Order: sequence, then structure tokens, then C-alpha cells
Amino acid sequence: MNPKTIIEPFKIKSVEPIRFTTREEREKILIEAGYNPFMIHADDVLIDLLTDSGTSAMSSKQWAAIMEGDEAYAGSKSFYRFEDAVKKITHMKYIIPTHQGRAAEKILFSIVGGPGKYFPNNTHFDTTRANIEFTGAEADDFLTEVGKHPEQRADFKGNMDIEKLESFIKEKGVENIPLCMITVTNNSGGGQPVSMQNIRDVKNLCNKYGIPLFIDACRFAENAYFIKLREKGYENKTPLEIAQEMFSYADGVTMSAKKDALVNIGGFLAMNDQGLAMKCRNLLIVTEGFPTYGGLAGRDLEAVAQGLTEVLDEHYLQYRLRSVEYLGEKLVAEGVPIIEPPGGHAIYIDAKRFVPHIKADKFPGQSIVCELYLEGGIRAVEIGSVMFGKYDKNNKLIPPPMELVRLAIPRRVYTQSHIDFLIEIIIEVFRNRNKLKGYKIVYEAPILRHFTARFEPV
Ligand code: F0G
Repeated sequence: MNPKTIIEPFKIKSVEPIRFTTREEREKILIEAGYNPFMIHADDVLIDLLTDSGTSAMSSKQWAAIMEGDEAYAGSKSFYRFEDAVKKITHMKYIIPTHQGRAAEKILFSIVGGPGKYFPNNTHFDTTRANIEFTGAEADDFLTEVGKHPEQRADFKGNMDIEKLESFIKEKGVENIPLCMITVTNNSGGGQPVSMQNIRDVKNLCNKYGIPLFIDACRFAENAYFIKLREKGYENKTPLEIAQEMFSYADGVTMSAKKDALVNIGGFLAMNDQGLAMKCRNLLIVTEGFPTYGGLAGRDLEAVAQGLTEVLDEHYLQYRLRSVEYLGEKLVAEGVPIIEPPGGHAIYIDAKRFVPHIKADKFPGQSIVCELYLEGGIRAVEIGSVMFGKYDKNNKLIPPPMELVRLAIPRRVYTQSHIDFLIEIIIEVFRNRNKLKGYKIVYEAPILRHFTARFEPV
């Protein structure tokens, strides 16, 4: 027997009810939230696809590990378990826990950033960009051309454009580029993977100019499994071996454990440079905590250590990538425009093609996000002009290259029938797409405005 269906590789021991609302209730809720799903109470959401970050279901072994948490202020046993788990995968010398990914970024860029500095990446995530810009430095994206075309299929649409990166290094000067980053998988570009060849090529280029390479490793296990499925020579390697090779090309790592460590909170910084590690630890003590807990409880460190082993299980990764692909396939079959092929943690609806009658300055992605909530209580997030739009001197919107709606799939949380329900709702919204209207912003914060902005339909 060789069954085709890839099943959830777990059974459910503890369940959390979800609350049903009526369309009338959702209309009121959405108005109160200023048409911004970040402002909706989670209890008013039926299926929450706002993020895959911190929303994983933990395993019984993780919950058991939590009871083993050693809450000693210094030298906690749980820290050493955590450190071993991170070292086993990354082989980095210095492991610094932080309460989440952006705390690792904040510490790193406070030290290496500053005015006149430049940080290249395939695509910076918004917190990475914000932490860089906050120091007065510049964050620059060098995504491979194919990665900018949602309708074009390619195996590694998260890759870095090596030629553009090299011209940039020559233009800005090595002395102004303290480090280069590569984000796996490339979240803002559609959860698309980066190939081992590309990581190796970026490393070789960095070596040529003496620039350290850091990996933003939030979704390293998903990236490793894409490499196994798609890159020649990796078919017979384990996800752990592939991850180890990925990190062997890096001089440092920033990690949000809220993704591929299957926990609700946590992160770390890891690196090989002793001098830099000392500076990071000194700052950590000021902002996060003592170097053996770094803003986390001992129990959190235990859950990360356990999660890092579970996430590399092949049955888990096969189920994880397949369940996202399943959603993507069904939508494509109905003509719904998405970034193809599906990424590792999310489906990205291409709002430009979904609602071509709504122009960027009327926020097409926001319009779809609101409609998904009204139609089915689904919470998604806009990744387009709301999140990344800037203004020119005349206060005219400079839109980013893509207008997307992200449906991020929490790890081990929803079953196939939740996904089937979601597909029905999206298809219904797609059928009525001509009726969707644009939005205008009536309030926005100066930085990371998408979290708190308020909108009105136009
Ligand atoms: N880097 C990437 C690629 C991310 O996706 C995130 C978070 C971070 C860094 C920051 O990590 O949240 O632990 O501080 N992404 C979440 C998301 C928030 O919804 O995609 P954090």
C-alpha cells in the first residue's frame, strides 16, 4: 500500500474551542477595529492566519519539558540544554538567548549599525528593516528577479541576486557594510526558499570582500526541507544535515524561535566572533537579562530545545509543506491568483491580480483582508502598500513592488477541514471580487504603521 494522503503526524490531546460569530457581528467588530485586523480581539476570529509566529501548538514533550524548567538566575540547567540544541544545528560558538527575534536584531544592529552603514539581505523582514533604520543605517533588498513575479514558478524564489549584491558592495564600499544577511525562507517575498547553492554563492562573495554573513533563520527547517525536495544532491540527506550545511556558511544567526522552534515565545543570536559576542552579551544584560536566560524563563528555554528537535522530523516537515501546498493547489485550480509555487509557511494572495480595479493607494490587500473577515471570520494580513508603502516629498504613496495578502498557517494547529473551509471562503470572496472597494488611512504611526493604522472604506 502506498497511500497518497499525507496526514497530520500527530493526534490531538487538548483542544481549544473557536468562537463563531454572525456577519452582522463581524461588520460591527471590523468598524470598531478601524478595518485593521491587528486591532480585532482574537476571540472574535474563527480561523486566525494573521501569523505563524508564536502560534504553534506545542507537543506533549514540550509541555513536559516546561515542567523541567530550571529557573535559576544564572547558569540554569535549561540554558545548557537550549545551548546544546542550538549548537547541534548551527555549530555556532556563542549562543545568546533573547525573548524573540527582533530582540536579537535590536542587539545586533545597535552594535554594528549606525548612520552611513548598509545592510543587504534577500528581503528584510519589517522588524529587521526597522531595527536597522532605527540606528540610522540603510536596509537594502537584493531579491532575485524571478522572486518579484508572483505568477512565475521557480524552485528557489527566495534567492539573493548575487550580481546586484556585488555591484552594491563595490558602490557602497566594504568598510560601510558591517554584515550581509540572508533570510530563510524569505518571508516578505512569499515564504520562498533559498537554495544551498545560493547560500554558498553569497558566502563566497562575502568572503571575497571580508564581509560576515548572518542568516535570519526563523524558518530554517522549512527551508532545509525545500532543499531536500528540490535541490540535486540533497535527496538523501536528513533535514538536520541540510540545516547544518546551511549554517556552516554563516558567521552568525538571528532567530525567532516563535516559528521553527515550535514555541510561543523565544529567540536567539548566535555567532562565531568572540569580540562581537561579548558586546552583544553586555547589551543583552541591559535590555533582556543575564546571558543564561536573556529575557526568557528557564521553562521557555526547555520548550525551544525540544521544539528544535521536533521541527526537523521528516514526517512533520512533509506534512507542513504539503498542507500549505494543498491550500495553494485548490486556490490555483479556481483561478485565485497567488504567489506560485506556494511557500513554506503561508499562501500569499496576489492582490494586484485579485482586485485590479483597486489601485495601490487604495490598498487592494487591505480590502481583501477585510472581506475575508466579513465573509468567514478569517484573519489574514496585508503585505503591500500598508506594510511597506513610503511617501515621496509630495506625500504621494511609493508602493512596494508587490501587493499581497498573507494567509500564514500556524504550525500543528488547524486540520484539513479548517483548510477546506478556508478555501470555500476565499473562493466566495474571489467570485465577488468586483464588488470590493478600496480603503484610505485615517490614522498611522510613524514606524511599523500596519500594526495600529486605522482605515475607512472609500
Ligand atoms: N525575521 C523574520 C523573517 C520574521 O518573519 C520575523 C517575524 C522576525 C524576523 C522577527 O521575529 O517576531 O520573534 O520578533 N515574523 C512574524 C511574522 C512576526 O508574522 O511573519 P519576532
